[in-house]
Amino acid sequence: VKLGVLVSGNGTNLQAIIDAIESGDLSARVACVISNKGEAFALERARKHGIPAIHLPYKGFDSREAYDAALVKILQEHGVELVILAGFMRILTPVIIDAFHNRIMNIHPALLPAFPGLDAQKQALDYGVKVSGCTVHFVDAGCDTGPIIIQAPVPVENDDTETTLSERIHKEEHQIYPKAIQLFAEGRLSVAGRRVIISS
Ligand code: GRF
Repeated sequence: VKLGVLVSGNGTNLQAIIDAIESGDLSARVACVISNKGEAFALERARKHGIPAIHLPYKGFDSREAYDAALVKILQEHGVELVILAGFMRILTPVIIDAFHNRIMNIHPALLPAFPGLDAQKQALDYGVKVSGCTVHFVDAGCDTGPIIIQAPVPVENDDTETTLSERIHKEEHQIYPKAIQLFAEGRLSVAGRRVIISS
C-alpha cells in the first residue's frame, strides 16, 4: 500500500513506520511526506531515506479548503492510497476527508474518546486518570472522533510529568501505528458505523 504521510514536527512516528517497512514488518511504501512547516525534522528523516519530502506552507492559500485541495492533488500525483497523519497540526476539511474516505488514519496520544484535541497528556494528568495511552483511528469530519482501529494503554505514575508520560505513550505509538497500517495493507479493516471490524 502506498502511503502519504502528513507531518508538522519531529516525526518519530514517521520514523517508526519507515523502520517497520525496512525491517519487513510492514508491507507498504512511503510515496511522499508533506509538511506545513518547512523546519519539521520529519522532512529531514524522509530525505535521508530517499522519500520525496514536500513543504506545503499554508501561507498563500485563501482558505483551508484551497489548502486541502492542494494536499489532495499532491497525494494523488504520488499515487497515495492511504493518508497517515503523524503529528500533522492542522484540522482537515471535507475536501480531503471525502477524497480519501476511510483512507486517512490519525494517531492520538490518549485513549479516545477521553482527552481529544490539543495537549492530551496534560489533560490526562490534570484529570488524574491512572491509565492513559494512545489511539489509532480513521479520520472523519470531527476532531479525533473517527472509528477506532487500535488502542494501547499506558499507566500514569505518581511522579509523571507531561514529558515522562508523553515518552511512555510515544513508545506505544511506535508499536501500534505500523500495526494498524499493516492491517489496512492486508485488507483486514472494514468500517461498520462507528466500529472498525478487524477480520482474521
Ligand atoms: C504524537 O504524540 C501523536 O500522538 C500526535 O502528535 C505526536 C507526533 O509525534 N498526533 P512525532 O512527530 O511522530 O514524534
